[in-house]
Amino acid sequence: MARITASVYTSHVPAIGAAMDLGKTHEPYWQPLFAGYEFSRRWLRDNRPDVIVLVYNDHANAFSLDLIPTFALGTAAGYAIADEGWGPRPVPAVQGHPDLAGHIAHSVIQDDFDLTLVNRMDVDHGLTVPLSLMCGEQHPTTGAWPCPVIPLAVNVVQYPVPSGRRCFELGRAIRRAVERYDEPLKVQVWGTGGMSHQLQGPRAGLINKAWDQRFLDRLIAEPEALAQVPHIDYVTEAGSEGIELVMWLIARGAMSDVDGGLPPLLKHRFYHVPASNTAVGHLILENT
Ligand code: DHB
Ligand code: FE
Repeated sequence: MARITASVYTSHVPAIGAAMDLGKTHEPYWQPLFAGYEFSRRWLRDNRPDVIVLVYNDHANAFSLDLIPTFALGTAAGYAIADEGWGPRPVPAVQGHPDLAGHIAHSVIQDDFDLTLVNRMDVDHGLTVPLSLMCGEQHPTTGAWPCPVIPLAVNVVQYPVPSGRRCFELGRAIRRAVERYDEPLKVQVWGTGGMSHQLQGPRAGLINKAWDQRFLDRLIAEPEALAQVPHIDYVTEAGSEGIELVMWLIARGAMSDVDGGLPPLLKHRFYHVPASNTAVGHLILENT
């Protein structure tokens, strides 16, 4: 059977992708940020999964106000890199895993979650920046990401957004689905977005370090209680785009301790301000 071996959590700030694409990672502004991912790149090389379920949000690139799926699961064989206004990022296209994605869709929908299935979708910085952070630079044509990726796009852009509780329960349903898959695949679930940020309006640039650090503490130690935090608290405390953090609860809900397993091992924790006008947070948790 397949199993979830680990979960990874990281912000997906587009400027991080631009810093890598433009060769700026060693500049004094960026160096401390990338230093926080050096361990993670080694860890991923040593703990390479067969498939990554990558939870992220589309930022009005694949979807628009014409169509607003709350949870959109990618069931395609591959995904092109979105053009977000400056041309697609120079990174490899993303290979999908239609068989496992189809299985997850079947299991999770029968488990009462209403997923939208997406057979064609371009993926934006929400998905590619975490891959770049964790895997390092990859040549757009001769390079490749380490394994197939199943995108799970969550609407945290246009209200109403899903609750943390619903996200956490979806993570649990994804773990049940993976564990019913009849092939011994090692699967990681990555939750992306956050941490505190507000990109516009009078509060633009808001950073709440204490709230972010407490979110990390609680995500590790008491995720079920954290999942009860209402969406308005994210927005009030962490800024309007801080709501992206509910996606981390999907990855956390997929860890085995949530349903009676042992607590996960904390392999890495990192927090840094600033990147663009946001805070960056990052965790790696391994199932034992
Ligand atoms: C920015 C955009 C994002 O989608 C995000 O998650 C963080 C920062 C930005 O535009 O700076
Ligand atoms: Fe974002």
